[in-house]
Amino acid sequence: MFEEGQLYSPVTQHDDGTVEVHLSDNHPGRNDPAYVARRSEIAGAAMAWTRGEPIPHIDYTDAEHEIWRTVSHELTPKHEKYAHSEYLAAKHALRLPTEHVPQLHEVSELLEPITGWTYVAAPGLVPLRDFYGDLGARTFNSTQYLRHGSQPLYTPEPDIIHEVIGHGNQLASPRFARITEAAGQASLRLETEEAMKFVADVFWFSMEFGIMREHGEVKAYGAGILSSYGEMDEYAHMEHRDLDLVDMGTLNYDITAYQPVLFCADSLDQLEGVVGEFFETVDDDLAARLRAEAVERGLVSAPDA
Ligand SMILES: [Fe+2]
Repeated sequence: MFEEGQLYSPVTQHDDGTVEVHLSDNHPGRNDPAYVARRSEIAGAAMAWTRGEPIPHIDYTDAEHEIWRTVSHELTPKHEKYAHSEYLAAKHALRLPTEHVPQLHEVSELLEPITGWTYVAAPGLVPLRDFYGDLGARTFNSTQYLRHGSQPLYTPEPDIIHEVIGHGNQLASPRFARITEAAGQASLRLETEEAMKFVADVFWFSMEFGIMREHGEVKAYGAGILSSYGEMDEYAHMEHRDLDLVDMGTLNYDITAYQPVLFCADSLDQLEGVVGEFFETVDDDLAARLRAEAVERGLVSAPDA
């Protein structure tokens, strides 16, 4: 669950080069000047970074390490209970540190030997096409800041805990990594923004908020669910629909609330056959046809209507 209409807090750079992160009024760190300054410092490091140089090293404070420790330990029993076995196996293979916030190069060093993925630094929101283009090259753009310490189990926006614990563990599964890479490579084929949005929405309802049947239970594999303490308690009570690309690519969703509608795969084979195959083959025409089908089925209104 992300509380802001805009997924990430906006980051701006002033004429004098200083960087400022703009937290929303209801952000837990909004009235903590030290936190706001820290956020700007960390965003500034990513903005000053250029590809090919070493990833910015962040000297995390004891308080920041404590947040990471707390969340890592609280999520562990929840993962054992709610996460799909493919995610759990990948998590056990990756062995992320639980006692300190990892530097992004540490994450890459653990992940690359397993699936070939690496992490790079982002100050906040990365433009959609840049983000997906990098996924196509097995590169994950990650923020480096942590949520506010007053509410360690809650964050109104994706932070390094979401990016690394949520996505990093998922990307240590060769099968999930392949689906993610295919979504990234699809972006390179797409010219229209409508088709790009369709792919991003299918991604949202699969790799971010996907659930899957396993041994008679519904388990989670989406990074958004598995990095959220609260969302893991909620997903079982939401409306579960069968995988349906037309519905997934056009359903409106509110990023400020727990996701009320989730799409449930019958198996990992089915996820690969439906979502993975879609990412591998989608082009502008296919996305337009699926969108037209959504209009025919009355899921969305016709363009210009
Ligand atoms: Fe995410």
